[in-house]
Amino acid sequence: MIKVYMYKNKKAASVFCKDVIADIVKNNPTAAIGFATGSTFIDTYSNLVEDFNKNKTDWSNIRTFNLDEYFNAKKDSPFGYRYFMDEQLFSHVNLQEKNIHFPNSFNTTEVDLKKYDDQIFNGHLSLQLLGVGRNGHIAFNEPGTTIDSTTHIVDLAKSTIEDNARLFFNGNESLVPKKAISMGISNIMSAKKILLAAWGESKQEAVKNLLEVGEATSNCPVTFLKKHHDVIVILDEIAFSLVDQNNVDYQIVEINKKF
Ligand code: GLP
Repeated sequence: MIKVYMYKNKKAASVFCKDVIADIVKNNPTAAIGFATGSTFIDTYSNLVEDFNKNKTDWSNIRTFNLDEYFNAKKDSPFGYRYFMDEQLFSHVNLQEKNIHFPNSFNTTEVDLKKYDDQIFNGHLSLQLLGVGRNGHIAFNEPGTTIDSTTHIVDLAKSTIEDNARLFFNGNESLVPKKAISMGISNIMSAKKILLAAWGESKQEAVKNLLEVGEATSNCPVTFLKKHHDVIVILDEIAFSLVDQNNVDYQIVEINKKF
């Protein structure tokens, strides 16, 4: 089932995202949570930091698993996703270092990939956060990735390199790493609950493919979420605006407006 919550703007939507995550942290203090990088969750993460400071929410036994990491990103490489997570959230709450998990992105071997799979599957994700690429990628699972994929090395799609250059590298594509390590679709699908957030025009096509009638297809990996039993999709009005409401797959999709 896909439950859509549509908000006027990303600010309001990000408060709701924070509430979903904070509830899990409070109610299940040893939960494993899959985190996502990218611009989508920046407001959510700052809301979580505020919640931590205000309510002393305890993260000390929460375990984290990030979706992906660029090739050869060190813990302190400013372009890396570990660095991003530290800056936005991890270093501002009382997470323990030993509970933070990323795939090894240095001279990565099959053993490393398998190790991350085992950690994720044995960790039992209570929640997986997801952004979506404009081409429908989730994590770095670009079009063509299959539903049974596990943690793997990825060549990034051109549109992903362009988007990430614009958002995080001052538009300089040559600085964007061209390879990454990513959880596969099966790792993501193993989470008990999935929260996908999308704002703005560049996400319209992916959101339409997810919510309208149509097969789950590796041409647009986000559509695999149609096969998951507990997905929350949090949108702003713009991301939703291409969806033809007469063609929504109401067998699996429920739409809630939260203005
Ligand atoms: C990036 C990341 C994804 C992220 C997505 C959307 O390439 N690998 O994990 O969710 O693309 O990014 P953004 O949130 O900046 O739009």
